[in-house]
Amino acid sequence: MLHNDIQKIYFTEEQIRERVAEMGKVLTEEYADKHPLMVGVLKGCFVFMADLMREVNILCDIDFMIVSSYGSGTTTTGAVKILKDLNQDIEGRHIVIIEDILDSGVTLSYLKQYLSMRKPASIKICTLMDKPTRRKADIKADYVGYICPDDFIVGYGLDYDEKYRNLPYIGGLKPEVYS
Ligand code: IMP
Ligand code: MG
Repeated sequence: MLHNDIQKIYFTEEQIRERVAEMGKVLTEEYADKHPLMVGVLKGCFVFMADLMREVNILCDIDFMIVSSYGSGTTTTGAVKILKDLNQDIEGRHIVIIEDILDSGVTLSYLKQYLSMRKPASIKICTLMDKPTRRKADIKADYVGYICPDDFIVGYGLDYDEKYRNLPYIGGLKPEVYS
């Protein structure tokens, strides 16, 4: 059963709702007259972005990319592949990349560089979770929801082997689930 696999809840639905509303306010102020393009990185972003966008009360465009960086385990393979690109030209646009979690940073540093070549006016990174101690690539998020606990977390879009994305909270798995 879904909830039985969770050892510990780190962030409840209620806590996440409040934090996401705060983040939405910040983006609303900073991008008020910039008509930004919000770029969600699928699949992990889908819950966070859906909630965040409803807290951003300005004119903006929304698009998605699919990037593969992970195998089915909990550690990065280092390889980054673009599986779905943007559907529009971004030259001169203000871009906000929306991610679920910034871990080694390999995925996002590649993506940021990749999009920079198309000459946008700016690119910023908004991530719900940040694991700064695990960073391998030289990259920092501009907007961070939470510093991530030292655990592999699931829920609210985040998966383990494609499961648990539909948990409404963020938690850590029981060790026996990995084996
Ligand atoms: P990075 O290139 O190592 O920063 O990879 C980021 C991606 O790894 C995220 O988009 C997630 O899909 C995955 N990831 C990293 N840490 C976790 C975690 O604790 N839980 C779930 N997914 C994770
Ligand atoms: Mg992801």
